[in-house]
Amino acid sequence: MKTAGAWQLARRDLLAMSGSRQQRAHLKRPIWIIFFVSLVILFLIGAYVVFPSRSFAACYFFSSKDCTMLNLPVSPPARELTDHENIAWVVINELLRKPPVQSKNPKIAFLFLTPGTLPFEKLWEKFFQGHEDRFSVYVHASSQKPVHVSRYFVGRDIHSEKVAWGKISMLDAEKRLLAHALLDADNQQFVLLSDSCVPLHNFDYVYNYLMYTNVSYIDCFEDPGPHGSGRYSEHMLPELEKKDFRKGAQWFSMKRQHAIVIMADNLFYRKFKFYCKVSNPLPNMDGRNCYADEHYLPTLFHMIDPSGISNWSVTHVDWSEGKWHPKAYRAQDVTFELLKSIASIDETVHVTSTGKKKKTVQPCLWNGMKRPCYLFARKFYPETLDRLLFLFSNYTTV
Ligand SMILES: *[C@@H]1O[C@H](CO)[C@@H](O)[C@H](O)[C@H]1NC(C)=O
Ligand SMILES: *[C@@H]1O[C@H](CO)[C@@H](O)[C@H](O)[C@H]1NC(C)=O
Ligand SMILES: *[C@@H]1O[C@H](CO)[C@@H](O)[C@H](O)[C@H]1NC(C)=O
Repeated sequence: MKTAGAWQLARRDLLAMSGSRQQRAHLKRPIWIIFFVSLVILFLIGAYVVFPSRSFAACYFFSSKDCTMLNLPVSPPARELTDHENIAWVVINELLRKPPVQSKNPKIAFLFLTPGTLPFEKLWEKFFQGHEDRFSVYVHASSQKPVHVSRYFVGRDIHSEKVAWGKISMLDAEKRLLAHALLDADNQQFVLLSDSCVPLHNFDYVYNYLMYTNVSYIDCFEDPGPHGSGRYSEHMLPELEKKDFRKGAQWFSMKRQHAIVIMADNLFYRKFKFYCKVSNPLPNMDGRNCYADEHYLPTLFHMIDPSGISNWSVTHVDWSEGKWHPKAYRAQDVTFELLKSIASIDETVHVTSTGKKKKTVQPCLWNGMKRPCYLFARKFYPETLDRLLFLFSNYTTV
């Protein structure tokens, strides 16, 4: 209760000052100056205690260049804002300005979005073992009650609803998972995983990678082609313009502050709910073949906090075959070399869906340093479990 104590001290001094103003009016100038200076010092100490993050206090009072907390979102558009937009900007700005709540026991929340039973529970158990106080598990099983084989998953099912591929119910399930995980104040990072995802590194590596960073790993890029901005609908105007429409993989890892922003956002969410649909029953309606789970998060964070996201996902998937679905690994594909080669990739590739298929390659920067991009990988068939279990301690230690 150091915090409260410091403020009480400051408050008592302030009260003392105002209460005895009359008597002190005759005091000589130097005493006043000493008093004022000590009050300022007290305030600064108070600020340090209240905002435990050094950079925040440093930023506020000494305007150091380490101003990561005051990395404010882009300003709202110059045109007159709609009522909904005004409300959204106020709420989101406040949330983004707040320094993160510090937890004594920071945990990573692993959010599993699955139709039913998770084929890799045994593998995740190996991954989690020995780190019991540093993670929490939540399972949203949309069509069948899962049969759990690992103690880390038993009793971790949350209330679930049906999820239809490409529909808004997918986003709703993600929000439901986030909401449940946010109830635990120790959860600081929130990782969304599917039933076909596997870990590429050991727990310590993943924990340090996600916890000691200041960004959310949300994939985001501009695709002017038919599978990108081609899915934009003018019904999203005026709040959401085509130039801000972005695309990215569904699988994210995000910091607590961003998870709370998602809880608060109704404006942009509704744009996607009503105007980003796989099939649209209304005639002359654009925004067809639009998958909200591929566009909502990238677009939202591109608009409100572009430098607060990495622009790539920490979950690897191989689209290089150029098919409608990504490559899925069979038992015979799973080797030490395959896992190591995925785990060592340190550049991300984005390809547009335009005729030219423009390719953008970027290094993965972790706190400014080039690092491997991926912590998890998909898609693995359930038959790969035994191979993965056999290789796990080898590929995650060497
Ligand atoms: C992500 O891309 C945006 C541009 O859309 C850029 O402003 C931001 O700095 C990028 N994030 C990182 C961590 O480089
Ligand atoms: C995160 O930290 C790095 C290195 O300290 C800095 O370059 C970057 O701007 C920070 N990003 C954000 C979003 O604060
Ligand atoms: C473990 O990794 C080493 C390479 O560092 C490799 O030579 C060995 O065959 C691997 N063991 C298994 C069981 O795959």
